[in-house]
Amino acid sequence: MQRIVRDDVIVDRGDGRTARLGLPTRVDPRTATPVVPERPVTPKRKGWLEERLGVSGFYSKYGRKAFPVHTTFFLGEMATFSFFILVVTGIYLGLIYIPSNVEIDVEGERLPQAYASVRLIESIPVANLFRNVHHWAAHLMVASTLLHSLRIFFFGNYRKPRELNWLFGVGLLSLTLLASFLGYALPYDAYAVTATGIGYSIARSIPWAGNVVAELFFGGAFPTLGSLPRLYTLHVFVVPAMTAALIGIHLLLIIKNKHTQPGYARKLAEPGRVLGVPFWPYQTLLAVQLLMLMFGGLFILSALVPIHPLEAYGPPGPETPDVKPDWYLLWVYGFLKMIPSGAVLSTPIGTIGPEFLGGLLFPGLIFGLMALAPWLDSTNRPSVKRYEYLEPPRQAPVRLAIGVFMLAYVGMLFFAAYYDEVGLTLAQMWYLSIVIPGALATAALLWAKWAGPDAEQRFDPTAEEMPDEEVPAAH
Ligand code: HEM
Repeated sequence: MQRIVRDDVIVDRGDGRTARLGLPTRVDPRTATPVVPERPVTPKRKGWLEERLGVSGFYSKYGRKAFPVHTTFFLGEMATFSFFILVVTGIYLGLIYIPSNVEIDVEGERLPQAYASVRLIESIPVANLFRNVHHWAAHLMVASTLLHSLRIFFFGNYRKPRELNWLFGVGLLSLTLLASFLGYALPYDAYAVTATGIGYSIARSIPWAGNVVAELFFGGAFPTLGSLPRLYTLHVFVVPAMTAALIGIHLLLIIKNKHTQPGYARKLAEPGRVLGVPFWPYQTLLAVQLLMLMFGGLFILSALVPIHPLEAYGPPGPETPDVKPDWYLLWVYGFLKMIPSGAVLSTPIGTIGPEFLGGLLFPGLIFGLMALAPWLDSTNRPSVKRYEYLEPPRQAPVRLAIGVFMLAYVGMLFFAAYYDEVGLTLAQMWYLSIVIPGALATAALLWAKWAGPDAEQRFDPTAEEMPDEEVPAAH
């Protein structure tokens, strides 16, 4: 039996003869050692993209970034993809929508042009589907952004070195809510005009600057001919462009600071390294799957549950319908409802009334406190080099109790939106809105103190001794 060798491929022929396959190859019959002639080495040609962009350098710098695989880490990605879906579906809707409240004749009916264009969208099945997906994706973006920020809050990940990214996150949450509010106006049905009218009177209630702000956002006394083009431009261009820019900065800061990691990573990865899958190809594949799932889920939901159809409220008319905002703005509405109408204060710069207190000062206070969390948290000490791991919430009773209080308080504000409909008085509502969150927060505090680890068993979320130089991410 003799072996025939072709370069490094050995073919077993078994007939004692040599064959010329590609390069001439001989076998020394005494030793059966293949004798392969020297071959000139031609350098491998680089790929098209490699020659032009040097993509391999880019890959080794960023493509190997490790992503921790933990379900809650997908919430941020869900927010990113919801934004992407909103942009794609929004571009489609923008091809048909007309941002004008000029009245036109449509089959014998006088209708605002914007309303008529949304009616046209509803009459085209695929456009109607896209409209519904756009609306549901807005809900999903707010929900995933909120849950994402709650994860970061409850696990203490806003601490050093991620304070700046937390601030950009608060900016993103504000922009997400603003974009949703601006979207309300566009269908220009009775609901849209009433809800946007509430926003207009809140803007006007700002002491000293109210008229200028109202003019800037609403193009004059709402509703005027200038209102829709302005709200439309803010909704489709200004706010999305700012959101895209902030998401970009947010993601760059994540690459720079690296992800925090679940506690189990400490046992498995060396200090300074992230335990996870590399961005390319594994994390990308996971992300594409998530995007496809979200697209599929939203399309199915939109086909089954149409959202805010025009005929629910009809075109704007002399009657003002009783409207409540969607859940993500309902807490502001609830608080506005809880402020007694007599709460008016005259100051040298203007009158502070219930609309300003409930519609701007209160949400501003909540967002302000949220933004300051990294500086209000006394565990975020300058002496700590970096917090690298998720801290179990049970281990931080005060943070847990504050979070529970805020969540319960916002929950009570949802309830406040309906308090008169269930027969409660304003005084009872105020009482409940403090007592229930207070009781739940105390229960959370006591539970965490009782069930939390003792001093020796505490998990240390700070970085272990790390080399001073940046260590490349594991893959
Ligand atoms: C449009 C809204 C947002 C988008 C698209 C977004 C996107 C992301 C993504 C993809 C990640 C990495 C994966 C993860 O850790 O979940 C992340 C991490 C982070 N986000 Fe956001 N985010 C948004 C809003 C927020 C908000 C509202 C906050 C806080 C107020 C926030 C603070 C952070 C922080 C501190 C990190 C680093 C977390 C860590 O390393 O554990 N983000 N974000």
